[in-house]
Amino acid sequence: MTELNLSCPNVAGKSQVGYDFDAVRDVLTATFKFFKKPLGLKLPPYFDFNQFNGIAEVLNDFPVTYINVINSIGNGLVVDPETESVVIKPKGGFGGLGGDYVKPTALANVRALRQRLNPEIPIIGTGGIKSGMDVFEHVLCGANLVQIGTAFGYEGTPIFERISKELKEIMDKKGYKTLDDFRGKLKTI
Ligand SMILES: Cc1cc2nc3c(=O)[nH]c(=O)nc-3n(C[C@H](O)[C@H](O)[C@H](O)COP(=O)(O)O)c2cc1C
Repeated sequence: MTELNLSCPNVAGKSQVGYDFDAVRDVLTATFKFFKKPLGLKLPPYFDFNQFNGIAEVLNDFPVTYINVINSIGNGLVVDPETESVVIKPKGGFGGLGGDYVKPTALANVRALRQRLNPEIPIIGTGGIKSGMDVFEHVLCGANLVQIGTAFGYEGTPIFERISKELKEIMDKKGYKTLDDFRGKLKTI
């Protein structure tokens, strides 16, 4: 499986293709002309309903195998007050955010795009996952699979077994047998 990254916020001097919907359309038109294998897309976080509508309208015109949301929230800045300096060096202190900070944005993107994309395009939910409950929330918003970035960096491969066990416990407690029992079934009232 190949994933096309339309959303790296850390390339100095380059803007993210994923925020320019005409450019996304051009890239996908050119790509699908020659690339015939399954192709997923890594997308940036969107923050506005016009953005959710705009990207979904483009993606629904292409045979996308899956989407993966979200990539890092671009260009945060972390300050070390002790040394009065930036913590992330390469780009003058600016760098993509992941982990706890990004979970609500990730859940919103999974939910908003699930509501707008063709049902045959599955969604990988990524952002802020470090427990079985976080996975539960992503699936409730409509995720088919999940990806773990920041927490994997801290914990390594044992995280997968721990999180699977925690998710199973939550499902047992709630009486759910499969992920489909609650996938996308987030209540709004
Ligand atoms: C150290 C680091 C490197 C990353 N490199 C990439 C990358 O090369 N391509 C990509 O699509 N996302 C990359 N990401 C973003 C993650 O895949 C993920 O989308 C984001 O961090 C949110 O998930 P998380 O909260 O689980 O970290 C990177 C994240 C981290 C922390």
